[in-house]
Amino acid sequence: MMRKLIIAPSMLACDFTRLAEEVKAVERAGADWLHLDVMDGHFVPNISFGPVIVEAIRRVTRLPLDVQLMIEHPEAYADAFIRAGANHLTVHVEAAGLQDPHVLRAFLRDLKRQGIMPGLSLRPATPAETLKPYLPDVEQVLVMTVEPGFGGQAFLPAMLEKIRAVRAWFEGEVSVDGGINPDTARLACQAGATMLVAGTAIFRQPDYAAAIQALRAAGRSP
Ligand code: DX5
Repeated sequence: MMRKLIIAPSMLACDFTRLAEEVKAVERAGADWLHLDVMDGHFVPNISFGPVIVEAIRRVTRLPLDVQLMIEHPEAYADAFIRAGANHLTVHVEAAGLQDPHVLRAFLRDLKRQGIMPGLSLRPATPAETLKPYLPDVEQVLVMTVEPGFGGQAFLPAMLEKIRAVRAWFEGEVSVDGGINPDTARLACQAGATMLVAGTAIFRQPDYAAAIQALRAAGRSP
């Protein structure tokens, strides 16, 4: 049975002067999850937003909030994002605070115990094998198909091999994020992706429903 393709707009690309309207617009347009890019200016050379924005978004939608912590110390902030309303927390295997395998494993298991979907993400330069020991403790693997930190970048085709490798080892959600449009969505789904994060391909289009539908159709095409 084919798993449903999940489409998650990256709110980083939305018009923050109209945040509530943008959330409701992509929800009406058929988004499955909302992807929230948290950046600390250390793990990535950009600063985005914190729990206060997650809490504001929580107040205006019932969609799952898929929070990606591009921060060095996710272990120090996870509780704040959970209290703010995050449903999923994806952390980076490269994060400074998670370099001890026992700490990372305990962190992921604690998320699951709290009913939060645990996820792991990796930069383009990080080999897929780095994730292998932790796959039993996650429900989502987020393969970055651009260098994390900014929207609007071009998809890195070299990441297709990494998506295939993760798909071969892992039964859960294989998510891709960065430069996802109908063309790259088709390639990513052929490689095994089951969840697409897209910012520019949705929020820079006049019709969000058509943009989401185009991604969904591309993901299904052979
Ligand atoms: C980049 C973010 C991505 C980005 C996607 O660090 O994690 O979610 O916002 O934006 P597009 O779809 O424009 O590449």
